[in-house]
Amino acid sequence: TFLGIDLGTSGLRALLVDEDGRPLGSAEAHYPVSHPRSGWSEQEPAAWIAALESAVAALRASHPEFTTLRGVGVAGHMHGATLLDKADRVIRPCILWNDTRSHVEAAQLDADPDFRAISGNIVFPGFTAPKLEWVRAHEPDHYNRVARVLLPAAFLNLWLTGDHVADMSDSAGTAWLDTGGRDWSERLLAIGHMRREQMPRLVEGSAPAGQLRPELARIWGLPQTVVVAGGAGDNAAAACGIGARTEGQGFVSLGTSGVLLAARDGYHPAPETALHTFCHALPDTWYQMGVMLSATDSLNWLSQITGARPAELTAGLGADLRAPGPVRFLPYLSGERTPHNDPVIRGSFTGLGSHTSRDDLTRAVLEGVAFALRDSHEALKATGASITRLMAIGGGARSPYWLKAIATALDVTLTLPAGGEFGAALGAARLGMVASGAGGIDEVMTAPDVTGEVAPDPALRGAFDEGYAAFRAAYPAIRAVQ
Ligand code: XUL
Repeated sequence: TFLGIDLGTSGLRALLVDEDGRPLGSAEAHYPVSHPRSGWSEQEPAAWIAALESAVAALRASHPEFTTLRGVGVAGHMHGATLLDKADRVIRPCILWNDTRSHVEAAQLDADPDFRAISGNIVFPGFTAPKLEWVRAHEPDHYNRVARVLLPAAFLNLWLTGDHVADMSDSAGTAWLDTGGRDWSERLLAIGHMRREQMPRLVEGSAPAGQLRPELARIWGLPQTVVVAGGAGDNAAAACGIGARTEGQGFVSLGTSGVLLAARDGYHPAPETALHTFCHALPDTWYQMGVMLSATDSLNWLSQITGARPAELTAGLGADLRAPGPVRFLPYLSGERTPHNDPVIRGSFTGLGSHTSRDDLTRAVLEGVAFALRDSHEALKATGASITRLMAIGGGARSPYWLKAIATALDVTLTLPAGGEFGAALGAARLGMVASGAGGIDEVMTAPDVTGEVAPDPALRGAFDEGYAAFRAAYPAIRAVQ
């Protein structure tokens, strides 16, 4: 068997698959995100380990097949800065991907043209390099003790193997990587006041990173050698989970963040579009994606202030898609990456009237997220990506209304994968399979069966185009008065 671990923002999921990559069972454990100040977002790495231990304990108890484990892969939420001292002790809580405190430092680094030229990306405030500059400026005692910087998935790799080792896909999100050359950039490390020896060793996501530590293998009851794969950032892992690895194959993911991802043939950076161009978790492969920061987060926010669960809110809309109404929502609750690269913009509702109902607000939120994803789609098309297959994944994909709104806003048919299992955890398990020699990439990284399709509604295309035009016009206007 093989184990895929998805270290998510709100919790960790461990998935056990059989020799053919078929899911046998999974276990989850949750942990909080703390927001000590507005725009800050942190997590205790110890909570990830505790979650992993409890998820593995649950899997071992429910699945005797666990004892035949041969390979493990870890997918993690990207960009987080986990700072370790000489003894591998955690120096401070991990600063997460959706933390925007370092926006000043990000702009400073981004002003040096080498960053975009070598890393292929804007230096976004959520990326790792500006976080270290922030720590240097604001927490010099912590900064001076930093012997190693690990991304969340690499921190789990350390716990699993005892080695500092990270994969290319996740490392591309640091802003210190030469993304085309697939190696740390001495130049970018130097501008960011970091040194190569503070970085983990690099391997491809599907290559072996090491073996499970003997002590852990004993506790888990595994006498055999267990290979740990390089692993991946969660988006690359999700791409592996749905077999997206050649030009135009991709997904739209409705998680805390909203992602529109397309695998590319070759490396085609386009930082000026605010798209992300990262190494894939497979050798010699890259992908591109637009990232909006608040997707299901927007609906969760509305849920919190209305006291209705997200599913109740979307159920109120029924199943039939309607033309966008007068109420408009800009989903910039935590700023935005693609296409604005604007950490200080905040969300807004416009067009409210005395008759505006909770359903109107819900509909505006779903449409606002759909329009923001269209921004990413337009940017991807402009770089020459031809998207032939877009699979809908993530928690928000459970809302049929939302899927119809997205299909119609983007004018792309969305496909729905069969079975419950197709996300980052499956991708991580597949990386474990390839790394341990259970199968080649072609054999293992296949597309799932499709259970259904959501096509754009031709009668509403025009109305959604108009809604999108208004959405586009709202950003600069709101920006001017904020
Ligand atoms: C990608 C990003 C998010 C996180 C979410 O650049 O920041 O999608 O990976 O876990």
